[in-house]
Amino acid sequence: MNLFAKKNLRQILADASDENIAEHAAGGGGGLARTLTAFQLMMLGIGAIIGAGIFSLTGTAAANFAGPGIVFSFVVGGVLCAFAGLCYAEMASMIPVAGSAYAYSYATMGELIAWIIGWDLVLEYAFGSVTVAAAWSGYVYSLLHKTMGIDFPDFVVRLTKGPWEEVTLNSGDKVFGLWNVPATLVALLVSSVLYRGIKESASLNNIIVVVKVAIVLSFIGLGIGVISTDNLFVNPAATGIAQLVPPVTEVAGAMRYGWGNGGVLTGAGVVFFAYIGFDAVSTTAQEAKNPTRDLPIGILGSLVVCTVLYILVALVLTGVVPYKELGVPDPIAVGIDRIVDLRGWSVGAKKLFTFGVKFGAISGLTSVILVMMMGQTRVFYAMSKDGLLPWFSATHPIYKTPHVATIVTGIFVALCGGVMPMSLVGELVSIGTLLAFVLVCLGVPILRHTAPDLPRPFRVPGALFVGLAGAGSCFWVMTGLPRDTWLRLIVWLIIGFAFYFGYGRHHSTLQRAQNATSNPSPR
Ligand code: ALA
Repeated sequence: MNLFAKKNLRQILADASDENIAEHAAGGGGGLARTLTAFQLMMLGIGAIIGAGIFSLTGTAAANFAGPGIVFSFVVGGVLCAFAGLCYAEMASMIPVAGSAYAYSYATMGELIAWIIGWDLVLEYAFGSVTVAAAWSGYVYSLLHKTMGIDFPDFVVRLTKGPWEEVTLNSGDKVFGLWNVPATLVALLVSSVLYRGIKESASLNNIIVVVKVAIVLSFIGLGIGVISTDNLFVNPAATGIAQLVPPVTEVAGAMRYGWGNGGVLTGAGVVFFAYIGFDAVSTTAQEAKNPTRDLPIGILGSLVVCTVLYILVALVLTGVVPYKELGVPDPIAVGIDRIVDLRGWSVGAKKLFTFGVKFGAISGLTSVILVMMMGQTRVFYAMSKDGLLPWFSATHPIYKTPHVATIVTGIFVALCGGVMPMSLVGELVSIGTLLAFVLVCLGVPILRHTAPDLPRPFRVPGALFVGLAGAGSCFWVMTGLPRDTWLRLIVWLIIGFAFYFGYGRHHSTLQRAQNATSNPSPR
């Protein structure tokens, strides 16, 4: 048995294009439906990217690490993701199949690495959905309770967080929650849309993206005119734009601010979460009408749009609110409050705008969950097609969605969302995604070497440099994550090995085909 057996690239492509016909002939579900256009792919990317990162983490990163220099953290995060995005674009245009990074690694580094990456993508997509579902729950409660003034009985308050997170009761006492019911509900709701169809999911996503981009643009538009340079230029001893970065200072026994660790770079590691999601576009390869041309447009287009928006939001936010006041879970809502004050508008206007921002955040988070869960179901689908997982390759005869994978993913996210604390899963999502990025970036130069003649509708310029720089910088950000997060990643991978050696390698279609070739049955 060869654990590093590679799938033949031409075979992968032939399998994917024959799939519809073959499944149909076999009386299966008829495969996945090709309905997505370039525009819809880009909207899916934006749908997956703008979410908890910008609506929650920006404030923490500015207050604790980078100050107004968070603008540079977003630039660093954007450059890093641009390397990875370019590599994803080449891979996706060349190998347009549902498994994304999992399938690329199967062709470049062999089955075991492919399994590791497929298993690791659960951290990005399924646990990413869990994290964002928890943030969704927080925003819904804040909108109903703080903004709309609805008071809930203590029992209901305890149903807004899981058993390891504290809630504040009406008396002001703090107790642990019971079950995060809103997080569970949103996961079930989103999976029912995904079950129904890719077209329906993409249409819902389009509406949400329009709402959240409108909110983000309004925030930028309203705030840009009332930015105070006093808030931005916090380090007069420096020159030029370096004045945005607070000087290195000791805060509670730790060195903070400046450009390096504890400063702009650490901020980049935190806001990296805000960029996660553009890669999910590549998992829809078998549902795109013209994948070789449109996947690079979807991946890179969404990344460029979001990078520009993020940098502007960071500039406006730290320009209207002193960065030390931004260590809150809803910094954009704090920012809009301040903008209304600075403009001298009424209390009514403040309520309206705060409502708008929170509503935008809730819809934004919904589309992140939608696209992340969609990515997860497509990766499960691809792994199951290869025999590494059971059941998930079934497609619905009418809706043409991987319905079994959708039901299982929905239940998994709903259960984990009900109990798991957001802080525990958030960093796991980042480390899991970074690992996938490292392998995809390495895959590009490897395939240029091993399969130089294969058509590449999109070619990364300077592939060796971009691949190595992307892999190196993603790995470097991984090294900055806490040791506990690394330990959890290792435990997760060990659980994955147990599955692989217990099930996957015995059922792998590739291994079976290779065994049959090397041990032909006697006549
Ligand atoms: N980028 C996504 C978010 O910020 C995961 O919610």
